[in-house]
Amino acid sequence: MDKNFLNDFPILRSKMNGHPIAYLDNGATTQKPESVVRSICGYYGGCNANPHRGVYELSVKATKAYEDARRKVAKFINASPKEIIFTKNATESLNLVAYSYGLNNLRGGDEILITIAEHHSNLVPWQRVAQATGAKLNYIYLAPDGNLLQADIDKKLSKRTKILAVTQISNVLGLVNDIKTLAAKAHEVGAVVVVDGAQSVPHIPVDVQNLDADFLAFSGHKMLSPMGIGVLYGKRKILEEMPPFLSGGDMIEYVEEQTTTYAELPQKFEAGTQNVGGAAGLSAAIDYLQGVGFDTVERIEHDLTTYAISELKKIPYVELYGCDAPNKVGIVTFNVKDVHPHDVATILDAQGVAIRAGHHCAQPLMKFLGQNSTCRASFYFYNTRRDVERLIEAIQKVRGTMHIA
Ligand SMILES: Cc1ncc(COP(=O)(O)O)c(C=O)c1O
Repeated sequence: MDKNFLNDFPILRSKMNGHPIAYLDNGATTQKPESVVRSICGYYGGCNANPHRGVYELSVKATKAYEDARRKVAKFINASPKEIIFTKNATESLNLVAYSYGLNNLRGGDEILITIAEHHSNLVPWQRVAQATGAKLNYIYLAPDGNLLQADIDKKLSKRTKILAVTQISNVLGLVNDIKTLAAKAHEVGAVVVVDGAQSVPHIPVDVQNLDADFLAFSGHKMLSPMGIGVLYGKRKILEEMPPFLSGGDMIEYVEEQTTTYAELPQKFEAGTQNVGGAAGLSAAIDYLQGVGFDTVERIEHDLTTYAISELKKIPYVELYGCDAPNKVGIVTFNVKDVHPHDVATILDAQGVAIRAGHHCAQPLMKFLGQNSTCRASFYFYNTRRDVERLIEAIQKVRGTMHIA
């Protein structure tokens, strides 16, 4: 019997439109347990000061909170603390790689390979790098079950490929890509591997050594932490050779009138005052997540996902996308025939069920699927089978509410 996680999440015990909340938008952001909220309050109430700058006790405590969080994150993904750069989210982490690594290492004739299932955060920055350097942006498309097309991988990964940037789990289809195999193939041709872990790090154990990823980006807010704290992991040797992305305070060694030398890793990439409260929250979130255990997270999400898919398949006017592949985690994407996804989401909202509707920041994928937009229910370990039942009951009312026979 699993613990009743709702005891730890006050917001999930509150109401939405007069109904208990069935929060099924975890792909967008997760709720925060009380221990995380307490850690942020504890930081601001007990040791807030500007880190790395002051010599007085409060500043030293703030520095310790920040650097302890970095060590926690490093251990969590099996990296070294010098390889952990705090950013504001996965988007900023991916931009950092694109602008600092991409702009400085690519030229005309080179190729960047991404997949058609990328979130705009791992797509638009590469478009811009391609436009600025003359490199070509290539895509791996999807097989009918939603997985990456093997023939595309074999054909498009070549000596010209300098960067392979790929999501570990699609935020629309929930399909898990085999990063370890992809990274091995990419390294064979000399490409650098950038992994978007925004949807994977919160849900499955991620070990950067085992994957042999060169970069990994993720956001704290999708894994129980506050918004405004994100992570970029990068292999030390590559990070050391990269120029800074943002410049300003705390990322320097010496500044002269015309020139500057930079601080060592990871400070070189952390210009300006740091989000120490966010880092403290992320540290508490990792503690909480490890207390739950990824075995439990994966088991619950697998159960909810398969239950939701089997119930949705019984509704003749529901169309599902990417739901037949076995390597699927926590995300179910669908449409109700003849009803716009925004109408579906609004009707569900009136019944206390929170889902996402729209293009999910993946417009090229939507086009590939032949849809303008879809509905998405995304689960986390604190969801229950009752939440899935509430989703199904609410969907069954949609067409009637829209007066569709
Ligand atoms: C796969 C994926 N990558 C990147 C992002 C961007 O995350 P953020 O908005 O926290 O930067 C998201 C957000 O939904 C995502 O799902």
